[in-house]
Amino acid sequence: MADNVLDRFKENTEEHVVVDTGKKVKVGIIGTGWIAEAHVANYLRCPDVEIVAAADLIPGKAEKFCKANGIEGVRLYPDHKSMIDAEELDAVSVCTYNRTHAECSIYALEHGVNVLLEKPMCVTLEEAVAICKAEKASGKILSIGFQPRFDENMKMLKKVVESGELGDVYYIQTGGGRRRGIPTPYGTSFIEDKTAGIGALADIGCYSLDMVLNAIGYPKPLTVSGYTSDFFGKDPVNFPGHPEYAEKFSVDDFAAAFIRLEGGVILDFRISWAMNMDTPGDTIILGTKAGLRVPSTECWNGSIGGPLKLYRTIAGSDVETEIPERRNDEDNFYNKIRYFIDAVKTGGKAPVPSSQILYNQAIIDGIARSAKLGREVEINIPEI
Ligand SMILES: NC(=O)c1ccc[n+]([C@@H]2O[C@H](COP(=O)([O-])OP(=O)(O)OC[C@H]3O[C@@H](n4cnc5c(N)ncnc54)[C@H](O)[C@@H]3O)[C@@H](O)[C@H]2O)c1
Repeated sequence: MADNVLDRFKENTEEHVVVDTGKKVKVGIIGTGWIAEAHVANYLRCPDVEIVAAADLIPGKAEKFCKANGIEGVRLYPDHKSMIDAEELDAVSVCTYNRTHAECSIYALEHGVNVLLEKPMCVTLEEAVAICKAEKASGKILSIGFQPRFDENMKMLKKVVESGELGDVYYIQTGGGRRRGIPTPYGTSFIEDKTAGIGALADIGCYSLDMVLNAIGYPKPLTVSGYTSDFFGKDPVNFPGHPEYAEKFSVDDFAAAFIRLEGGVILDFRISWAMNMDTPGDTIILGTKAGLRVPSTECWNGSIGGPLKLYRTIAGSDVETEIPERRNDEDNFYNKIRYFIDAVKTGGKAPVPSSQILYNQAIIDGIARSAKLGREVEINIPEI
């Protein structure tokens, strides 16, 4: 079988026009930790962006951050509220730990400020609904910080599904993770309930979920049976030099779930910050006409573990087709910032809309609830 079927995927039909760079967009940074560095570095690449303010709860942190990242002279604040109250901002980047995502985003939207909110959207479904309601009432743009969305291989995955080549998709296995990789390079904000709220399940789980749900058009989640554990986070041996982190560890380090989606699609999911295995498996998408394999990946940066592979049976013969890996012409983190700014300037659509990520958060919330209860739960998403 000729592989010219793949030619239809070669054309890039997406259009993105960078708009009038003369008008400056005034941006404030909320939370000056690790990820804020990536936001600032890419805002600095945009001639039409001016970073005018930064806020952090930790005294002195914002000042040190601004100096280190080449944005001296910006006005500094002790929290998001004082910054939003005092400034005339067009947009904010919410780069805080998960627990304050909702309050910072809602406050900004209620004050007429566009928001680029880091992933995961928040901690609970209730918070996600409140964020979406604030967005709707404000008429402002809210985009969620999923940089893999801009990756050419992730786009290809979606194109393959949308081409109809797989037939009807009925089963997906997805997830990813690390053998040992509990994130503590800058302290404990990812591993404590009071700051993170959820562990691996939300931190990297949200990416695996987004990769496949975006590809199949984000069907509504209906029910979930979930499991979470914390065997590695609770063991001081996994924190060399910081055995006290095990005491503080109060989120999950592994999660698995069986999720039913509208349209009869089953999603089998697992994610890990630490486990006694190299990978929890490849992502596979089974359709009635063909299957697709995405070699094991953490997918946070858009990378895939090798070329996508299409599996078909043609005239009784099993056929496998490798889809060559695609290169990105631009950095995904830059595109995340650039597309957001362009949406702010044009009043266009959010590049990663909350209406989709609401479902992502609903699944995460469902897995956490189900794990706690030890049984399957329904996912009920209120009207926004
Ligand atoms: N997109 C990515 O690839 C990526 C990578 C890393 C982290 N993240 C996400 O970014 C978020 C932040 O991660 P991080 O590693 O930078 O965390 P961090 O702990 O290094 O920094 C968060 C900062 O936010 C501050 N903060 C919290 N609430 C605040 C408020 N109300 N007002 C002002 N400041 C406030 C804290 O004091 C802290 O300094 C997390 O949700 C994480 O999941 C995304």
